[in-house]
Amino acid sequence: MHLSQALQKIYTKEQQSARDAQRLAEFIAFSPMVFQVSRVMVEKGVLDALRDSDNGLTISEVSQQCGISIYAAKVLLEASLSIGTVIVDPESERFSITKAGWFLITDKRTRVNMVFNHDVNYEGLFLLDKALEEGKPAGLKHFGDWPTVYEGLSQLPEKVQESWFGFDHFYSDGSFDQALEIVFSRPTANLLDVGGNTGRWATRCVDYNKDVEVTIVDLPQQLELMRKATAGMEGADRIHGYGMNLLDASAPFPTNRKWDAIWMSQFLDCFGEEEIVSILSRAAKAMTPDTHLYIMETLWDRQRFEPATLCLTLTSVYFTAIANGNSKMYNTDDMTRLVKEAGLEICCIHDNLGQGHSIIECKLKS
Ligand SMILES: C[S@@+](CC[C@H](N)C(=O)[O-])C[C@H]1O[C@@H](n2cnc3c(N)ncnc32)[C@H](O)[C@@H]1O
Repeated sequence: MHLSQALQKIYTKEQQSARDAQRLAEFIAFSPMVFQVSRVMVEKGVLDALRDSDNGLTISEVSQQCGISIYAAKVLLEASLSIGTVIVDPESERFSITKAGWFLITDKRTRVNMVFNHDVNYEGLFLLDKALEEGKPAGLKHFGDWPTVYEGLSQLPEKVQESWFGFDHFYSDGSFDQALEIVFSRPTANLLDVGGNTGRWATRCVDYNKDVEVTIVDLPQQLELMRKATAGMEGADRIHGYGMNLLDASAPFPTNRKWDAIWMSQFLDCFGEEEIVSILSRAAKAMTPDTHLYIMETLWDRQRFEPATLCLTLTSVYFTAIANGNSKMYNTDDMTRLVKEAGLEICCIHDNLGQGHSIIECKLKS
């Protein structure tokens, strides 16, 4: 198994003393409380108030400044002592924020993950075991009766949709600058953006290159969102939509143009292994020997820092319980095997884009 250097250290040897391990086990057992208390500490502005105070705050000052009862302030602050997001001075009884508390309110990735986990995942995760047994997103049911989250995206409650898109866009947007340079390093007049969603990559492409024509393949309902999102933007007339359900193994990729590049960003992780081979095999049929296929994914084994891997392996659980029940965040071994099974060869892998993306650049097998 491939593991980045950072992961070699942590994932191959026991890290905990017996005492630490016991604490971690309790932390896991109480993790719903850990999560919800910390989320409320952020939402009610308690952590902000502590960060902004010069010498920390007493329970009654927190109660006043944050508009919560003394009881609520006590419950939250005492639990947060055990969680590790605050500390207290026993003399003055003033609470202060810790480094972990500071990250909770300041680190954009943590904020995006927390909101996504609360709004999209929290309730549905209750049915994780059912989802694992059935290979179906059992936790999606309380939002609606769709086979996968993608069919329901445009109908999710507004707040849930906002958190879903916030999560999706946060991870991919940060890699687009470097990705544009890689893709447009060769002449690219026609680009097929598979799973192009609301058109954020497509709009970056037409802005970056004044000649490129981009065709987005996605579910028809997503293309409607894309048209709304791109309406009136410069270059929108060079963004075309092609509605199709890629899970229909008999549906071919469009061949109305000769594709210089086929782009799949954060897309293959939405599918199970057999589905990936089917999609890539159909992509291969729409490729010429000159077409380059770019697969941009956050491969969990290639992360430079372990917290990034943690975000990915745990995001897999969202795919199981909520998204579709059969996909995940893949690692290099699995993804490269599937690419090869589809009759493609890998030219190179570009690493360390944005929030830990890699681009697997492929061509037809020669
Ligand atoms: C996680 S989003 C990625 C969006 C975008 N490429 C990015 O990098 O942010 C996956 C996209 O794949 C699309 N998708 C999922 N299942 C699909 C299917 N069966 N047929 C067509 N598109 C699908 C979704 O609608 C969504 O736009």
